[in-house]
Amino acid sequence: MRVLSVFGTRPEAIKMCPLVKQLESTQGVESYVCLTGQHREMLQQVIDVFKTRIDYHLDIMRPKQTLTTITCDVLEKLQGVYSELMPDLVLVHGDTSTSFAAALAAFYHQIPVGHVEAGLRTYDPYSPFPEEMNRTLTGHIATLHFCPTERNKQNLAREGIVKNVFVTGNTVIDAFATTVRPDYQFKNLVLRQVPLWKKENKRIVLVTAHRRENIGKPLENICEAIRELHNSFSDLLFVYPVHPNPMVREPVYQMLHNLPRVMLIDPVDVEDMHNLMSQCYLVLTDSGGLQEEAPAFGVPVLVLRTETERPEAVDAGTVKVVGVDKSAIIKETSVLLTNQNQYTQMSRAINPYGDGTASRKILRIITNESTISI
Ligand code: UD1
Ligand code: UDP
Repeated sequence: MRVLSVFGTRPEAIKMCPLVKQLESTQGVESYVCLTGQHREMLQQVIDVFKTRIDYHLDIMRPKQTLTTITCDVLEKLQGVYSELMPDLVLVHGDTSTSFAAALAAFYHQIPVGHVEAGLRTYDPYSPFPEEMNRTLTGHIATLHFCPTERNKQNLAREGIVKNVFVTGNTVIDAFATTVRPDYQFKNLVLRQVPLWKKENKRIVLVTAHRRENIGKPLENICEAIRELHNSFSDLLFVYPVHPNPMVREPVYQMLHNLPRVMLIDPVDVEDMHNLMSQCYLVLTDSGGLQEEAPAFGVPVLVLRTETERPEAVDAGTVKVVGVDKSAIIKETSVLLTNQNQYTQMSRAINPYGDGTASRKILRIITNESTISI
């Protein structure tokens, strides 16, 4: 059986590389990997950590790329790859434009698609934009659906997708087996100060924010809130690995670069990231992946968005959606910083996203699927 995994951004790579590892070590499976290159350095960082073999690289990233250029480039360049390789199954992940375009290209070649991380929904097509539509369309193209949770399966059922839907957990938890170690030494020079910060009883707040719908005023609000929190709490140490998108990078550096306890750094690789997360006090983020990872370490997450497609950890009490108003961010963060009871309640380690065996479950399903009919 010939399986082609197609991905192109950092989060897809983090969640697909553990599965590729399983595919590569399975007899009877010929595993191939195609990177679209929607991301460049951030993607390569993940490939280096997992030491994944790459068979095709479409290298599409351009500065100021648009949703249209990403979609068209992936569609066009995958034609040749699919025609040459003729895979029995194409695997895509989640909700990026790479995933949707790769699924659509497979449909045009009448190749079955397996959708990893299927069934997440906010039911607002513009939030997150364009991810909600990407994953919905991908779900309707796919033949096999690998849902992280039972709730994701129910979401698909509501849309009439009931065949070949499997609950497997999320492969992001599998990634910890490669990335997290108790004796970990940070590669990033700034992060090498983590032990010193801990010794000085600094509370490390990890920040990430990059989403398209947050660019502009919401991102400015987030930065202003960070500045005020920095000035109000002298024991806080913010670490913010800044996304390379100039529309994120420029305002963030402009607004926060001169604060002594705000460390603006380039994106760190996933080993540094997971180990940093495991040691921090609190996460402020608009990322999807961080909402899944931090609860596993018992680190509370405040989500800098107005909704989430990952309500499982919200229900469990370790994640709270606080929105993008400056005053709401300051208020909710201050509560967690000053109210020990609230903090303790939120910092229970829970893991609604699986037990680290999602890749193995997906592999078993793929290899048992005697006929993948489209
Ligand atoms: C994309 C995904 C988003 C995911 C995010 C993860 C879509 C529509 N969006 O958004 O779902 O959450 O990736 O980070 O698929 N850039 C670099 N180097 C890199 C990566 C990006 O310089 O390695 C810069 C480029 O200027 C690029 C810009 O960032 O044009 C935006 O990248 P893009 O993939 O279009 O959007 P993301 O916000 O990263
Ligand atoms: N991440 C990383 N380095 C960073 C920031 C994030 O390795 O500097 C990881 C993070 O741990 C998570 C993933 O990237 O696994 C999240 O990616 P991102 O926020 O770009 O996308 P999203 O999850 O929002 O789709």
